[in-house]
Amino acid sequence: MSPCWWRGWSGRPDKWWEWSAISRSLARARARVTEAGLHNVSFIQADVGEVKCDLVFDAVVGRLILQFVPDPVAALRSLSPLIRPGGVLAFQEVSYAPYLALSAHLPLWFAVASIIHETFRRSGAKTEIGIDLFHMFQEAGLPAPAMVLEMPLGSDPGFTRLVYDLVHSLRPHIQPRDLETLGDFDTLRQRLEGEVAISQSVVPYMALVGTWCSKPEGA
Ligand SMILES: C[S@@+](CC[C@H](N)C(=O)[O-])C[C@H]1O[C@@H](n2cnc3c(N)ncnc32)[C@H](O)[C@@H]1O
Repeated sequence: MSPCWWRGWSGRPDKWWEWSAISRSLARARARVTEAGLHNVSFIQADVGEVKCDLVFDAVVGRLILQFVPDPVAALRSLSPLIRPGGVLAFQEVSYAPYLALSAHLPLWFAVASIIHETFRRSGAKTEIGIDLFHMFQEAGLPAPAMVLEMPLGSDPGFTRLVYDLVHSLRPHIQPRDLETLGDFDTLRQRLEGEVAISQSVVPYMALVGTWCSKPEGA
């Protein structure tokens, strides 16, 4: 995954900007840019709703960020002036509904999906923001966006490992009674793999909704 959460380009192929809220991500991104020998990328650390920049960009692109922002409409509204008329605003955010629905046939897979969903929801994350971006773009004064929903599906151990790794990283934040429903954490990965293998079915990971629009002249 990219360490930076959103980026813009200034209309010149030689000039990229990337923004991030976390110093650690920025340090890693800067190191990668140096390693790649790039001299046309700049970084800014800022809250997404409070970016100060005098430049106007061709595009602003972000992934898995707006779900954590208290007021995504205000953030979109504040980003809009950074884009030139005809420029593009594009975000990719989650929707858990298809993930939960398509997990329902496997009890353990569904329990893990439900706990991941609930843990993010309780933390304040907007777990259906992918779909909600349709009205959020418009409330921010932007046109009705184009949208596409993408959903990874798989069945091999490498795929089930993605879900295990996520629930493992969330473990300190999971409610104790939810943890109990998963049984012994030390065997969870093997049990997930076993359930998927026996079912001979494909299982989903959370869906990502891509949402984008062109900024109209005069907006
Ligand atoms: C799940 S990570 C996504 C990272 C990356 N965009 C990706 O797709 O791999 C969420 C990111 O949102 C950032 N974030 C959360 N709230 C933010 C805010 N109010 N302003 C800026 N960034 C924020 C965090 O710093 C974190 O880097």
